[in-house]
Amino acid sequence: MILVTGGAGYIGSHAVLELLQAGHEVLVLDNLCNSSKVALDRVEHLAGRTVQFVKGDVRNRSLLNALFASYPIEAVLHFAGLKAVGESVREPLRYYETNVSGSIALCQAMAEAGIFKLVFSSSATVYGDSPRMPITENCPTGIPTNPYGQSKLMAENVLRGLAESDPRWSIALLRYFNPIGAHESGLIGEDPNGIPNNLLPYMLQVAIGRRKHLSVYGADYPTPDGTGVRDYIHVVDLAKGHLKALERLSLVHGVSTWNLGTGRGYSVRQMVTAFEEVIGRPLPHIYKARRPGDIAQCWSDTTKARDELGWEAKKGLLTMLTDAWRWQSRNPQGYGVDKAATATKKADTATETALAS
Ligand code: NAD
Ligand code: UD1
Repeated sequence: MILVTGGAGYIGSHAVLELLQAGHEVLVLDNLCNSSKVALDRVEHLAGRTVQFVKGDVRNRSLLNALFASYPIEAVLHFAGLKAVGESVREPLRYYETNVSGSIALCQAMAEAGIFKLVFSSSATVYGDSPRMPITENCPTGIPTNPYGQSKLMAENVLRGLAESDPRWSIALLRYFNPIGAHESGLIGEDPNGIPNNLLPYMLQVAIGRRKHLSVYGADYPTPDGTGVRDYIHVVDLAKGHLKALERLSLVHGVSTWNLGTGRGYSVRQMVTAFEEVIGRPLPHIYKARRPGDIAQCWSDTTKARDELGWEAKKGLLTMLTDAWRWQSRNPQGYGVDKAATATKKADTATETALAS
């Protein structure tokens, strides 16, 4: 059985579906602070199989101990975390506590239970403003400009030190580039809280009529058309990368780092044009000043993941945008749950308390 922390979230729910389809038993631990249980109901429907679900917090050591004692867990995919850059600037401690302390609590409980296989959700943000493109895994990490990015880099360093201290650990640090898209069924996808920070969720909400226009941040970057360039990757390709990493961890020890991207960059202008093609009409957008903390460009070298994992992204930009649009147009309000209202601010939900006692 695989424990998936944060498995009700955007990337986690797609990974749970891939795990079920590959025949794994799955246990999800999620406090639903940024997700809905509906996502997992739909995953079960798509897979025709059930998922074990525990609503609870990854920082709760006694709950983790109880989970490892109650279920035959062999490995962990660790998605649980907070990811809003602006919020991390306003509430740094909450970000460090969840993303760093949460990872530490998880590893402590794993070690106590004798489980040493871990796949961690890292981010290309750890490279900072890399002077080299494409970015290989041995490019030096940079200095992330916000607490979210710092927390990912810190968690990576914690995991690296841990693996060096004890050879039983096999840890994958997966550095995601820019995940977008949705499952082709249109049943699961990204459902951000409040005003989206990221480009595609914002474009989708403009297209669906929830926002007036897209602001394009910066047209004066040293890129071919002046707008920022990123390596967008389909979330289903990304999810499949996790299964490959999991397989690989049975063969290697220590820490392994893999970029999960497509190796190809698209500018904001190119994204807008391609999206207009998908929706069949213009997308209202205006040009604004650069967003503080943004870099000009970022795309991955995918050689290491291809050679070592036998994985590469298959889905192109039009598929990513078409799938995202299908999800958004069929679910204009996402999962239709006010997550802020249902968020478990307190760690001790009924399930947690029952399991941990
Ligand atoms: P998401 O917010 O949709 O999913 C995260 C999940 O973790 C949510 O279901 C949330 O409820 C849960 N969670 C948060 N704090 C928790 C806690 N203390 N205990 C238990 N559950 C908790 O985000 P996502 O886009 O699916 O991202 C998953 C992971 O990938 C995160 O760690 C994120 O930082 C990382 N990542 C995401 C991106 C991206 O662009 N989406 C890029 C790079 C890395
Ligand atoms: C952002 C985060 C990064 C995080 C990543 C994935 C910042 C500074 N960085 O990166 O830490 O790992 O998301 O969650 O927030 N853009 C617009 N208008 C918008 C939104 C974005 O023009 O409304 C542009 C940006 O300037 C950028 C591109 O679109 O050039 C992609 O932006 P975004 O989706 O936010 O991703 P990143 O900036 O790569």
